[in-house]
Amino acid sequence: MFKSQLISALFISLFAFSPVCANFDYIQLVLTWPASFCYRPKNICRRIPNNFTIHGLWPEKEHFRLEFCDGDKFVSFSLKDRIVNDLERHWVQMKFDEKFAKIKQPLWTHEYNKHGICSSNLYDQRAYFLLAMRLKDKFDLLTTLRTHGITPGTKHTFGEIQKAIKTVTNNKDPDLKCVEHIKGVKELKEVGICFTPAADSFHDCRHSNTCDETDSTKILFR
Ligand SMILES: *[C@@H]1O[C@H](CO)[C@@H](O)[C@H](O)[C@H]1NC(C)=O
Repeated sequence: MFKSQLISALFISLFAFSPVCANFDYIQLVLTWPASFCYRPKNICRRIPNNFTIHGLWPEKEHFRLEFCDGDKFVSFSLKDRIVNDLERHWVQMKFDEKFAKIKQPLWTHEYNKHGICSSNLYDQRAYFLLAMRLKDKFDLLTTLRTHGITPGTKHTFGEIQKAIKTVTNNKDPDLKCVEHIKGVKELKEVGICFTPAADSFHDCRHSNTCDETDSTKILFR
């Protein structure tokens, strides 16, 4: 009796404590707000979508980001592969026109080689790109923000934006990323949403501390 209990306890702990053998602690889906990303003195975008688009999917350790790991480099997807059209909708290579972007795949190459390889023990190249699109489709950030009165052209505190986003992340902390294109005006450029390595639940994100988190200043949603 005692022995079988011991054995089952051993099995339960094996399963409970090693669900996946990842070399990273969580993975951050970074979504860009195109109006802010593309707002520069000289416009760097050939295309500006009206919705959030993927910047990248970044494997993270608790206190730092993994980058440029050893492994197989990005291999361009064939133009005949339907993933190219799917990625072009969700992971828009805004700096390039569509034809060039589909052939050269510059952003996808950069992101996979810098970040994707670091999660290749769990997700091979194809799985990595499919995962990013699947995670993005878990929520509709634009509608969530709008529901909370956060619409393009309005300003809100860090707390208000964070609270709105937490309604779709099971109350886990997102990472809001700000830039200051105009002196004294912080604006929301990106939102990071974090997931466990197996991508089966949300996880708190480390804060990049690029936004002013005090209640006395407001952040522009351009
Ligand atoms: C914006 O993207 C989300 C998530 O991919 C999608 O559900 C939504 O329909 C899009 N909204 C618009 C206005 O295109």
